[in-house]
Amino acid sequence: MKRLAELIGKAKAFRLRARAQHSGFMVGAALETTGGRIFGGCNIENATYGLTVCAERVAVWKALSEGESEFRRIAVVADSEILTPPCGPCRQILWEYCGDIEVILANLKGARARYRLSELFPIPFDNRFLGQERRREKKR
Ligand code: THU
Repeated sequence: MKRLAELIGKAKAFRLRARAQHSGFMVGAALETTGGRIFGGCNIENATYGLTVCAERVAVWKALSEGESEFRRIAVVADSEILTPPCGPCRQILWEYCGDIEVILANLKGARARYRLSELFPIPFDNRFLGQERRREKKR
């Protein structure tokens, strides 16, 4: 397991790669696998706004596409007084692909907070429901 400061440092470094030309709000993320690999992400905006991808999801897509499937924690860094938490869609994606990982929030002034994803996303819709749905269909 990497040191927490290292993970936050990676998220900070990736934040500088943000393509946040529309909002001006730069976010960095660093997702750690159970094997200790770190995948960084930054938010990437575009002129239609709606196609923007958050830093967290960029990190998840990178890790999944590299064949990773077991995760320990993610750090998210932004330059905000109130620590920036993952948005709703990112919570959904993190829950589905990373499970109940630890979510570390940090800002540039050194403030930090740690949560379990289940605290931030307590009543998720996930494939347990789809499994039930499929079982029900089979019975028909
Ligand atoms: N954003 C992230 O990348 N992660 C978050 O946790 C919150 C929001 C980005 C999306 C958009 O590019 C900008 O921040 C403003 O919403």
